[in-house]
Amino acid sequence: MKDTYELFDFLVEQDLDYIHASLDNVSSKPVDNQDEQMRLELILGRANGKVPVMAAGSIITPDNALKAMELGLPLVAIGRALIMNPNWVEKVANGRESGR
Ligand SMILES: Cc1cc2nc3c(=O)[nH]c(=O)nc-3n(C[C@H](O)[C@H](O)[C@H](O)COP(=O)(O)O)c2cc1C
Repeated sequence: MKDTYELFDFLVEQDLDYIHASLDNVSSKPVDNQDEQMRLELILGRANGKVPVMAAGSIITPDNALKAMELGLPLVAIGRALIMNPNWVEKVANGRESGR
């Protein structure tokens, strides 16, 4: 996280439209951090509302997406789930909640 903070602090000052964090899982915790916060929470705290943050990482269901957005993300990205199921968005919009 130390390296991430250094990069993040630089990026936050660059007048960017957004920063995208490519995570393996949006709910994961850093291995080098003693506290209980998720990496995403730590990153959002560092952004401190100065720049919108979006993230990807094991968002498979609409509930996963909602939980990530409740942390303060205005947008989430869905990678592998969309590759496996290109109609994910339409299915969820049509009430097929699992996205399958
Ligand atoms: C085909 C593919 C291409 C990717 N390309 C990038 C990339 O160019 N830059 C990046 O930061 N992450 C990239 N990733 C990682 C994703 O942004 C993301 O962190 C990872 O796939 C986990 O999210 P997911 O579970 O929604 O797939 C890529 C992932 C996949 C599957």
